[in-house]
Amino acid sequence: MASPLTIDAAYLAPDVTPEMVSAWRRRTEYAKETLVSGSGAGNDFRGWLDPASMVTDAELTEIESVASDLRAKSDTLIAIGIGGSYLGARAVIEALSPAAPVVFAGNSISARYHSDVLASLAGKRVAVNVISKSGTTTEPAVAFRLFREYVEKTAGTDAAKDLIVATTDRKKGALRKVANEVGYRTFPIGDDIGGRYSVLSAVGLLPIAYAGVDIKALRQGAIDTASLVSESDPLKNPALFYAAARNLLYNQGYAVEVFASFEPRLHFIAEWWKQLFGESEGKDQSALFPASIDLTADLHSMGQYMQQGRRQLIETFVVIEEGEPNLLLPTGDDADELGYLAGQPLTAINKAAYQATALAHRDGGVPNMTVTIPRLDAYYLGALLYFFEYACGVSGYLLGVNPFDQPGVEAYKKNMFALLGKPGYEAQTEKLKASVANQPEGSIIRFA
Ligand code: PA5
Repeated sequence: MASPLTIDAAYLAPDVTPEMVSAWRRRTEYAKETLVSGSGAGNDFRGWLDPASMVTDAELTEIESVASDLRAKSDTLIAIGIGGSYLGARAVIEALSPAAPVVFAGNSISARYHSDVLASLAGKRVAVNVISKSGTTTEPAVAFRLFREYVEKTAGTDAAKDLIVATTDRKKGALRKVANEVGYRTFPIGDDIGGRYSVLSAVGLLPIAYAGVDIKALRQGAIDTASLVSESDPLKNPALFYAAARNLLYNQGYAVEVFASFEPRLHFIAEWWKQLFGESEGKDQSALFPASIDLTADLHSMGQYMQQGRRQLIETFVVIEEGEPNLLLPTGDDADELGYLAGQPLTAINKAAYQATALAHRDGGVPNMTVTIPRLDAYYLGALLYFFEYACGVSGYLLGVNPFDQPGVEAYKKNMFALLGKPGYEAQTEKLKASVANQPEGSIIRFA
């Protein structure tokens, strides 16, 4: 099968060459086997590895049917979730159906943001998909209270039952309890799927289907990529190549990997990618810090640092081969000095900008590689998402961390619960309140 994506590695050299990746064959093979056989840490969270069984054909049809029912009954879907229960859906929708009436909530606790969203709903028929695996995460729980009340008030309590769908654990958690008690339609999240690997499950697929994206094609792209990444040779397997290259660079002292794209519609793919790698690898005081830039916009802001700032950066461009061919630069007089480009497709000008940037960054000491997909459609996006997920699992094992847990996420939660007085946190409440209130003398500088 032809690969749905390619990696151009020319500008990784001399830091990383195909020979160096090839010399890592036994390491990458071992990391891949650790992932596939489940012999590594976090092995309970590999339910996403087989995209065909993560969501069966019957489940896919059910998701499409519920999405189409919600579409018929509403003008807007509020998709409530945070982290892995949010970013995948947003990434795919912004890439493929950016005008779709899907509004995201519960990914912050901002009163201003949520007031703005509520105000924008006047006169609209609203449906809600509340997504939380644990069912207890504060941000989506807060947002769900707001939007549940809104829908119940505007549509009536009985109709609201049909307008709210919960995606959550099969048995556990407060959201499951509420859904069962009220009688919402629900989609289960498997115990073996962590949030950041869940975009191709009901977590991502219901809002994505509501937005009119072909979820069968999305899943097919992932299924075909899953066959491709079974290859053991890192020079034939893009996920192994990518995982090896970034670890080789990390071992040489590079500290930051920058996801760079010349297509604004990929902005949230980069956000999703940052969570995937940041949460999977950022532990034991190790790992590349995942960052992103939107080009060409950021060439006029971050471009200076990329070219000449502290040399600690590697860069991964994500490029779409086939652009929009029909938007041509108009002809006209040459007063704006653009006559030499008259009649050219913007796509060709953008491609030249990418080629120029990749070369300049290499010359400036930023080793970079380019992942290219042929077209921006559901199939190739499914392939890209799965490629990064698989590469992340392998990369985490190469690095020596558990790519499927996130123990560090708990630290702020414990403090927040204690400060807010959540039952069960009483012991820490007084201590934390005192520590927040009693900052050392002079720590707030008032600059009179
Ligand atoms: O990837 C993860 O596991 C996290 O980002 C979670 O998805 C996020 O914390 C939300 O959790 P939940 O779905 O339980 O509300």
